[in-house]
Amino acid sequence: MRQLFVFACFTLFTSTVISAPDGHNLYNKHCSVCHNENGMGGIGLPLNGDKVEHFPRNYLFKTVRLGREGRVMPAFSKLSDAQINAIVDYIFSWKKTTTTDTYSDSKITGDVKNGELLFQQKCSACHGKDGKSEGIGTGVSVSRERKFQVVPPALNNPGFLAAANDHWIRQTIKTGRPGTIMPSQTTLQINDQQLDDIVSYVRSFESSYQPHAALEEDEPTLVFDSPYDFKTTIANLKQSLQGLNFRYFPDRYMEMGLAPDNKINKKQLSLRFCNFKQLYKMINIEPRLGVVLPCRVTVVEQADGQVKLYVMNMKVVARLFNNTQLSETAEKMHESLMELIEEATL
Ligand code: HEC
Ligand code: HEC
Repeated sequence: MRQLFVFACFTLFTSTVISAPDGHNLYNKHCSVCHNENGMGGIGLPLNGDKVEHFPRNYLFKTVRLGREGRVMPAFSKLSDAQINAIVDYIFSWKKTTTTDTYSDSKITGDVKNGELLFQQKCSACHGKDGKSEGIGTGVSVSRERKFQVVPPALNNPGFLAAANDHWIRQTIKTGRPGTIMPSQTTLQINDQQLDDIVSYVRSFESSYQPHAALEEDEPTLVFDSPYDFKTTIANLKQSLQGLNFRYFPDRYMEMGLAPDNKINKKQLSLRFCNFKQLYKMINIEPRLGVVLPCRVTVVEQADGQVKLYVMNMKVVARLFNNTQLSETAEKMHESLMELIEEATL
């Protein structure tokens, strides 16, 4: 008994003093850009408020570990279990209650066919046909500060389905998500049997999910060689930008803000620019895009003197947002970008 006590103290000591990951810091570093510092949400869904009172620990843990492939939520495969647990502890520190909900892993067996019918009537307007949450007008919430719009999450997503057990999905539909447009069982006007049917239908997405076909040219960053030196390449780019009706912002060295001014590598420059008409059109369709726009071309002179141009692949970025209309606009943006690069490196 005494030995056990000593051992317990020792582990407590080592884990808190020597190696305990700091959940608050980890959250700020890995999550706050999208979910906001206090969990209010932004690009990512809100995590605080009524919601955090009900989150099962396991669901949060798995959501962070597995992410939502094809959606914006990344999989944090490099964080240790202890680090993820520390992040979850930090999120739980927002709770007003001290208990944590748990939901049984047992399967809910409803009528999938009936669930499908109900889903089309009650859910697909927001979550998309087949749970893809794709397309125009998939839910706009005005509940967030700065009127952030929340795109309903995809329910056919393998990360979501692996993280959420049937009873947690059931609970989510039962209570809805207060403060957002996600309705509750009462508002949806469905009885308990119908609720089970819908849960079984959502579970059935597991077998029908098709990941995006990965095409070879679909690298997230495109790299081009410039036949010119660093200065000429930048001058060319600026000239072409004007010709193509892009506005550009003051020069920004890539390491600016990261390194002391006298240590900045002056052979790496990010040119940021935009075509405001295209930009506003895209932001109207998908406000979360604000994070990745304006466009930028980064010009880097390598040690061997070769000058390279790096641009974000708009097609890949737009695809992350699963929005057909946005993808079409991004396609046009992509074409202008390619025209720009071609002109500047001709
Ligand atoms: C009016 C639009 C709307 C309708 C209708 C709607 N939802 Fe939602 N749903 C949302 C939004 C928005 C969210 C995200 C809310 C949040 O948590 O911030 C959401 C969240 C969810 C979640 C949680 C997913 C996750 O990633 O945490 C589930 C499950 C869900 N909805 C299922 C359903 C089902 C099933 C129906 C039909 C019975 C339905 N919803 C109807 C808008 C809607
Ligand atoms: C690049 C943006 C981004 C980052 C970074 C990010 N998330 Fe998310 N997160 C999202 C989006 C977007 C969703 C909604 C998924 C969808 O649309 O299907 C989401 C969903 C979630 C959900 C499900 C919420 C619900 O209602 O059930 C949780 C939990 C979550 N994120 C936690 C985290 C945590 C914790 C971190 C940091 C370790 C993190 N996220 C980092 C964008 C992000």
